Amino acid sequence: MRILFFLLIIFLLPLNAHAKLIKSFSDEVVRQTLQTVYNQCRSDTSGKVADYIPALAKGDPKHFGIVICTVDGKMYKIGDTDVTFAIESISKIFSLALALEDAGRETILKNVGVYHTGLPFNSIIASDVREVILQNPLVNVGAITTTSYINGTDSNDKWRRELDKFNLFAGRKLTVMEDVFRSEAETNQHNRALAWQFSSFGYLKGDPDDATLRYTRACSVGITCKDLAVMGATLANQGCNPVTGKQVVKKEFVRDILSVMTIAGLYDSTGPFFFRTGLPAKSGVGGGIVAVVPGRFAIATFSPPLDKFGNSARGVKAMTKLSENLELHVLNP
Ligand code: DON
Repeated sequence: MRILFFLLIIFLLPLNAHAKLIKSFSDEVVRQTLQTVYNQCRSDTSGKVADYIPALAKGDPKHFGIVICTVDGKMYKIGDTDVTFAIESISKIFSLALALEDAGRETILKNVGVYHTGLPFNSIIASDVREVILQNPLVNVGAITTTSYINGTDSNDKWRRELDKFNLFAGRKLTVMEDVFRSEAETNQHNRALAWQFSSFGYLKGDPDDATLRYTRACSVGITCKDLAVMGATLANQGCNPVTGKQVVKKEFVRDILSVMTIAGLYDSTGPFFFRTGLPAKSGVGGGIVAVVPGRFAIATFSPPLDKFGNSARGVKAMTKLSENLELHVLNP
């Protein structure tokens, strides 16, 4: 009898550990938490819609949406989840996925780096460092350099491959918001200067203007909060899109992308954001933020008013409350 009892314990222990690992919440708990957090954040009118790219100034400050997409492809939505907005800097994580596959981890480490710069996303000071590259693929100069390592027969082919990758992440065909692209392309002298500077150091591959233009096009791709949640859930699901079932990026690179998001996803406010939420995330000046709970789900928020760091004010608040209420900090499993 005693032996039977011990055998039962030995058999049940791993099952219990597994159940803890995949701990999930009932539909009801997730829905209620979303509703509560949405209500708590909606009335927050802090922040200012980006206007340094003229087309972005048209963003409606009242828009606010949250979507959670699980690794099973299940979605929980609230608010303005079907409004199209410019992906902006969030594109950097998906371009990085393709550049890692095309050029390899070592090339990105050597020519871009994975340093937390501690400076604004478009800092020219950060790129003026020759000996040690204190960059990462999520600041502008790092993202433009990363883009320069995407393969293709010519510029159009490189762009086609990049947009195809974005489409695979979203599980549908995305399009460039032409008004945003024109507006950004007319006002991107600063980014072009960064690209030329990095090119002069020998890190950027090929024509700096071409890389900058493809980067600008990538930032102008239109997405909804639902798209963003699916794109994030693909990273949560080891690179496999949970809605289409397609492997979108090689598993081995998912941890690289999530690592970079952890150190620099919200620029110089990444520290406080990670401290509170414990989640790898990425923001864009179009008002989107995506956060990934590895192996479980992704959260996407959309709300155009930005805080002083360039991150959606309601988005940061909502992510923080969701992480607290659902106990999502990855260092507190
Ligand atoms: O290059 C730029 O300035 C924009 N296309 C993207 C910046 C951005 O989204 C920074 N984000 N938080």
